[in-house]
Amino acid sequence: MSHTSINPSTLLAPTPVVLVGCATQAEKANLITVAWVGTVNSKPPMVSVSIQPIRHSYHLIKESGEFTVNLVSRELLHATDFCGVKSGRDMDKFAECNLTAIKAEGLTLAPAVEESPLYLSCKVRESLNLGSHTMFVGEIVHVGVRSDLIDEEGKIHLNKANLVAYAHGNYYGLAERLGFFGYSVARPEVFKRRMEEG
Ligand SMILES: Cc1cc2nc3c(=O)[nH]c(=O)nc-3n(C[C@H](O)[C@H](O)[C@H](O)COP(=O)(O)O)c2cc1C
Repeated sequence: MSHTSINPSTLLAPTPVVLVGCATQAEKANLITVAWVGTVNSKPPMVSVSIQPIRHSYHLIKESGEFTVNLVSRELLHATDFCGVKSGRDMDKFAECNLTAIKAEGLTLAPAVEESPLYLSCKVRESLNLGSHTMFVGEIVHVGVRSDLIDEEGKIHLNKANLVAYAHGNYYGLAERLGFFGYSVARPEVFKRRMEEG
């Protein structure tokens, strides 16, 4: 099958879609929906979020030097889309979406979303102006996992979180588990056991 050439564009897909929490001393807690988000380092653990300087949230992150990344479940998707089309300049998005701002461990100002399956508390280590967006690289200083998603042994069950992904303007549920890290070289009995474990 051949490929048709199209103009260069941001067609990496799927990407995560997340709710980024931010605040300053003067400005109340805000949420911005971000799809230009990614893991960028393991030690120390780091993520990047790319945000346009015209966004209200940009100034909150720039000034406070911190933000949270809140994973999005199906239950949070409507609010996530809303937070991506309305500005915190005009409204309190937590109140509008019936979401609860909680203290993000390790941070002073940026809130986490209580209803999110998992949040990352991030301190800005770098910010890079790339053109349309500024990429904030945040070191993850704390991870909060909703308690129904972690068992007594500390194993995290994100398969129960109903996570959502974003691809070319649309949201998708993560429906089917197809394999696990290294499954292509796992012995058949290991593959079977691990897949049954969930
Ligand atoms: C699915 C989706 C993904 C988005 N991703 C980004 C992004 O990666 N960076 C960005 O600056 N804006 C992104 N936006 C737009 C902002 O979320 C939107 O402009 C928002 O209203 C800004 O809120 P604020 O003014 O309160 O900061 C996205 C919107 C949606 C719906």
